[in-house]
Amino acid sequence: MRSLENFKNVLDELIDFVEENRSLLDTNHVQFLVDNHWFTDSILNPSLRNDLEYFIKEKSGLEKGPVNLIRYFSELFDFDPKLENLNSLFFKLRKLFEIWDDEICTDQSELLKTDKSELIEFNKMVNDKFSVIQKQNRFMNLKKSYEVDHMSKFVGTLCRKHEIYTIVDIGSGRAYLSSQLSSSIFDNKFNLIAIDSSQSNVESSIKRINVMKRKTQVFDQKQQQEADRFKTFSQFIQSSTELHNLVRENTENKLENENYALVGLHSCGNLSNSIINLFLNNSESDRKLLCNVACCYNLLNEKYAKDPLSNYDFKKTDIKLDDSSKFPMSAYLNSNQYALTYNLRMLACHSLYRCLDSIENYKELNNATLWYRTMLQLILYENYLEDFPNQENSTEINLQVGRKMLDFDSMPPFVEYVRKVIKKFNLNNDKLTDDQINEYMNKHESMKPKLDIYIQIKYLMAPIIEYIILLDRLIYLYEIDNLEKFDHYLVKLFDPAKSPRCHALISFNK
Ligand SMILES: C[S@@+](CC[C@H](N)C(=O)[O-])C[C@H]1O[C@@H](n2cnc3c(N)ncnc32)[C@H](O)[C@@H]1O
Repeated sequence: MRSLENFKNVLDELIDFVEENRSLLDTNHVQFLVDNHWFTDSILNPSLRNDLEYFIKEKSGLEKGPVNLIRYFSELFDFDPKLENLNSLFFKLRKLFEIWDDEICTDQSELLKTDKSELIEFNKMVNDKFSVIQKQNRFMNLKKSYEVDHMSKFVGTLCRKHEIYTIVDIGSGRAYLSSQLSSSIFDNKFNLIAIDSSQSNVESSIKRINVMKRKTQVFDQKQQQEADRFKTFSQFIQSSTELHNLVRENTENKLENENYALVGLHSCGNLSNSIINLFLNNSESDRKLLCNVACCYNLLNEKYAKDPLSNYDFKKTDIKLDDSSKFPMSAYLNSNQYALTYNLRMLACHSLYRCLDSIENYKELNNATLWYRTMLQLILYENYLEDFPNQENSTEINLQVGRKMLDFDSMPPFVEYVRKVIKKFNLNNDKLTDDQINEYMNKHESMKPKLDIYIQIKYLMAPIIEYIILLDRLIYLYEIDNLEKFDHYLVKLFDPAKSPRCHALISFNK
């Protein structure tokens, strides 16, 4: 049953699960060796550790292949009775995943269904046009095309259904979504206002649109209409931003502009919360619609977490962010000052469903890059700690090595990697011989499968953290309007294996 009461009950269950496993979840992978995560009872419960060690011994190795806990999780009826603690954890997890799908999420088709012939025709026209444009080069990668096509159709149909003709795309990036919604694919029905805090993104969106125009056909009248219906601005948005005048000034048809949709595709960190508040604060619209797909929970600020990164200004804007854009949003979680912390939010960004979709061959199965990184961290701690004076009071050397240092497809020998990092950070290259560096690898070799399984068990629990953040937002909408004027939904808009941040928070007038 979708009701505020039930949502709160589910949120309690999700939170209980996280609290039971917090000590493990709230660890930084890179510190795995340095902080001895595996053998620290207060981090990894000894009975769970025993099960995981049994699993490594019995279910992996030369013939059985690498440790694959994700496969074990997905094999519904083949649980090993000897793994009592692990099984019990997995049963709880599965139950929570089921509850999420059945009791929290709404099927998107439910929102789109219609018997209005005008709308059925509109959808048919849009589908016909899609079959043509999908063959053209639209200067988007495959993942982005999938998201933009799916979301533009979804938003376009909902807007038509609710007779909303102005759409504001916030955090529009290169305006993939908004330029498509303003185009003739949707019969030039929608006015689009695209806003992004980054001026270079705004410029690059204009360049892309111009290139596309040149590539497709001669600039005809229809395209001129498209240009008029698409406007883009650079502005940093937060909950207190005054949007209404901007919308009013930039829509052609003054009769339509009182009503508008607020959309955001992969609105990172706090931006999703700001969009929800803008939607609620917009009292000028008679009719309005919200469709927000979040991402980058690591960049979300928190009200109650004590770790330094939970209040860090990731965008370096120097703009003081209002508290209403931070986690948590709901009065329910605010009342007990609930906090996640950076490590947990970072974990929430992972993509379990990608692993589940390629169960024998997912990237983390090998973990080669992370293994190098954790061992490098140990080398830094044991040999170069004095080179990181700013970290004196911290237990962590927070070194941004950068992804480019390691190419997953062509892993260099460990010594080569360490030498590269030493050079990049101007550390003393003579401190360690190649043999000494290789000795690290030999000495800790037995920890590699443990790192693999430690990562996999954390990934399996990662969706629960994302669900807490999303459900907090849904409950917040219900707290402000308990289905009196609006309907609120969470839908799985995208296939999570294709696009991991797949949930859309939706709200519109009844
Ligand atoms: C992950 S990107 C998504 C871009 C685009 N929606 C897409 O799907 O391709 C997030 C975008 O939001 C913008 N952004 C982040 N915070 C913002 C804020 N507070 N106000 C406006 N734009 C913001 C960033 O500059 C970035 O372009």
